[in-house]
Amino acid sequence: MSLFKRIKRSLTGSIQTDDYKSRVISSNNNETSTTFDPQKPPPEISQRDVDILRDCWNIVQQDVAKVGIITFVGLFETHPDVHDAFMSFRAVNTSELEYKAILRAHALRVMGTVDKCIYRLENRDKLQELMTEMGIRHKNYSVKIEFIDLIGHQFISSIKPSLETVWTDEHEKAWDNLFKLMCYHTRKGMCSI
Ligand code: HEM
Repeated sequence: MSLFKRIKRSLTGSIQTDDYKSRVISSNNNETSTTFDPQKPPPEISQRDVDILRDCWNIVQQDVAKVGIITFVGLFETHPDVHDAFMSFRAVNTSELEYKAILRAHALRVMGTVDKCIYRLENRDKLQELMTEMGIRHKNYSVKIEFIDLIGHQFISSIKPSLETVWTDEHEKAWDNLFKLMCYHTRKGMCSI
């Protein structure tokens, strides 16, 4: 069994099905531009999107660590360069136990950021400030802009199974719009330094 599968199984108690895996692979995002265009307005999020996001989030929150870990392990499996960048920041001889703790802690931080953004949809200036500063810090961690762009699709693939009974194209669009907005401000921060 691969290291990622072992880690996912021990951290979430689950293992990917082939169906899940094909969803992950088809989630690659081709938007890899590394510039920020100040003329481009922030992506729009409608009130309907906000309502959908809040409803879904209430459900996703019940298993937030699992969703975060599945998102990142899926991303590392399909994009080993993202894994290398994530680990390049740590000591070379990190044990499997330490590695799992680092992965879990970061996954929870990412989920915490999603939570803050959902509640800051009422106050877009605060959302902008949060994500721009996060972009600056991630640039300092040597994270590439295109890695950030990949998270949204991976996250959507991770939450879909638990929302399968209610999921529609509107749900897909609402989450896509949220991550586009988060990435817009992160990109702005990353390009500002
Ligand atoms: C939307 C995507 C992401 C979010 C919301 C996010 C969020 C966070 C947060 C909240 C922290 C805590 C410290 C801080 O705020 O600066 C953090 C730290 C960090 N992130 Fe991310 N992150 C994301 C994507 C990534 C990616 C793709 C990588 C690497 C490829 C990465 C690498 C790191 C590293 C190296 C740290 C510092 C050490 C640590 O706290 O583990 N992040 N991230």
